[in-house]
Amino acid sequence: MKIAVAGKGGVGKTFVSSTLSRLLARDGYNVLAVDADPNLNLAMGLGVPSEVANGIVPLSDNEALVKERTGVSAEEAYAPIFNMTPRVNDIVDRFGVTAPDGVKLLVMGTVKGGGTGCMCGANALLRVLLQHLLIQRGEVLVMDMVAGLEHLGRGTARRMDAMLVVLEPRMKSVDTIRRIMRLAQEIEVKEVLAVGNKVARPKDREFIQRNMDELDVPVVAYIPYDEAVTDADMAGAPTLDYAPDSEAVKAVSGLKGYLLDRYKP
Ligand SMILES: Nc1ncnc2c1ncn2[C@@H]1O[C@H](COP(=O)(O)OP(=O)(O)OP(=O)(O)O)[C@@H](O)[C@H]1O
Ligand SMILES: [Mg+2]
Repeated sequence: MKIAVAGKGGVGKTFVSSTLSRLLARDGYNVLAVDADPNLNLAMGLGVPSEVANGIVPLSDNEALVKERTGVSAEEAYAPIFNMTPRVNDIVDRFGVTAPDGVKLLVMGTVKGGGTGCMCGANALLRVLLQHLLIQRGEVLVMDMVAGLEHLGRGTARRMDAMLVVLEPRMKSVDTIRRIMRLAQEIEVKEVLAVGNKVARPKDREFIQRNMDELDVPVVAYIPYDEAVTDADMAGAPTLDYAPDSEAVKAVSGLKGYLLDRYKP
């Protein structure tokens, strides 16, 4: 089961990705959580101790690795000696960090040049690595993305079972989903499913339902606005540890059940 999680900044992608990853791991699956954001949010969300999290270097910023595997530096543009198919099969073992519940975390970092198709070494490495994770490895993959979907191309998007788009009951968040939908269509993502988050009132739920109906995107989970999530954030702990019985965690557990039913890893 390979799932990408996307959406506007701050909607709750990391909360959903990290909670979903740990709940799947508790069910006995081997889970690989991939952070496409360079800011180490997912490590914190999963509950990796901050001394460990702060020591993680995103793969895209690992100059030595990029140079060793591709023959060019992370920033350097296309070069004649460029290795298009760098070796990547040892990367999870070498750079993966073990998070609570046995989730493996890999911090990829960002694609340089923001989707301009820049052929620098770092992008080539990430692209081949993602192909490897999607095609050759058996883990359940949960990827915490950014709204631009820069990491995905045609070859990789088709290997994702679904892209979850997280949204809040706000128009800006719907606009971002529209943009993501266009990108997702271009790269041929198989299935886009919406997750409504921070739902406080019936009106919020209706807003999400109506807008996703218009876009023809099924809403597969509604997660309530839950102070347990903000309190956990302030306490610097994952919500799953801080408030395991909270309504927000229960809703993510429902989402997990839906995904397992549908994609049966
Ligand atoms: N269901 C919820 N109820 C209340 N607060 C929430 C909920 N989900 C997320 N939050 C809060 O919203 C903020 C953003 O959440 P999170 O970091 O998961 O979003 P994100 O989409 O990953 O953000 P970014 O784009 O910055 O990576 C956090 O402070 C989090 O505590
Ligand atoms: Mg995040």
